[in-house]
Amino acid sequence: MKGLILSGGKGSRLRPLTHTSAKQLIPVANKPILFYAIESLKEAGITDIGIIVGETKTEVMKEVGDGSNWGVNITYIEQEAPLGLAHAVKIAENYICNEPFVMFLGDNLIREGIKNFVSKFQCNKPNSLILLSEVDQPQHFGVAVLKNGKISQLVEKPEVPPSNLALVGVYIFDKNIFKAVNRIKPSWRNELEITDAIQWLVENGYNVEPHLVSGWWKDTGKPEDIIEANRLILENINTKISGYVCDNSSVQGRAIIEKGARIINSIIRGPVVIGKDSVITNSYIGPFSSISNQVNIINSEIECSIVLEKSIIKDIPSRIDQSLVGRKVTITSSSSKPQTLQLIIGDNSKATVS
Ligand code: G1P
Repeated sequence: MKGLILSGGKGSRLRPLTHTSAKQLIPVANKPILFYAIESLKEAGITDIGIIVGETKTEVMKEVGDGSNWGVNITYIEQEAPLGLAHAVKIAENYICNEPFVMFLGDNLIREGIKNFVSKFQCNKPNSLILLSEVDQPQHFGVAVLKNGKISQLVEKPEVPPSNLALVGVYIFDKNIFKAVNRIKPSWRNELEITDAIQWLVENGYNVEPHLVSGWWKDTGKPEDIIEANRLILENINTKISGYVCDNSSVQGRAIIEKGARIINSIIRGPVVIGKDSVITNSYIGPFSSISNQVNIINSEIECSIVLEKSIIKDIPSRIDQSLVGRKVTITSSSSKPQTLQLIIGDNSKATVS
């Protein structure tokens, strides 16, 4: 069995972060989201993995390399334009070469991993096994309808959802999916939808089985989803302090403090991750925060947020909460008059002052 991870797409709902970075490389608990997909496949025994790349291919290839860090073999497959998930399957046909495969959307995170899912496919041998999860707002996903435990209908982002069962972005297919992706037509958004391809399998008598996710699942398409995914991942960390914590500081609860990080006169209240060579001075870093490498935080308070590499946060009078701060960002305050907000802020940014 092979793996196919999709890491193209524009990540438009995550601008401005995705102006400079692939959405699949945004870190959650200081690890790129894409790495969790590679780890899930490896854990399920899949070591031949194709990665579909688009505009951000150079960056993805630089971060992932040949897969040797994980003991897997990575092959890159280039998609010239984001023409849909089923289009990505189409261009991977030569690589997949008639084997069954797990298709994993590179921005999806699943707590329980995919071992049970893969075992169920190997045991029942359907033509496709799809992963489903109950959600509050099914209109934002592919939606499945079940009849007597079997899939009877699938529809992509319906205005009036026929059920609350969303299609999770992890699927297993046998070679018949290549027939399906070659028969379907582009949707209203001009993409070849994988949901339509699976519906084609159902309509043409192929066996498509459902499998329900038992733990949490997150599609990290929007900033609030990334902050929530970060919270969920941090729930399960174990303390490891490799950096320096001065006598006047306190680390409460579970925290990972990486090599070269320095905590000076500060309170760290876990679960928290603080990356390499970051310095936290006279500050409070509260639960569910991930601070990347080489970040400098001085006289400030942060909770439930993600701060990416090389950013500086200094002298901020209110607590920063539920925030996603990009790379090399500076947030400071000044006591000089006039008391104004001075902003140099990128396209598609969002700032809330209260
Ligand atoms: C895609 C699929 C959708 C699925 C979702 C899961 O949506 O088209 O069926 O439910 O991934 O993450 P999109 O990436 O367009 O939001």
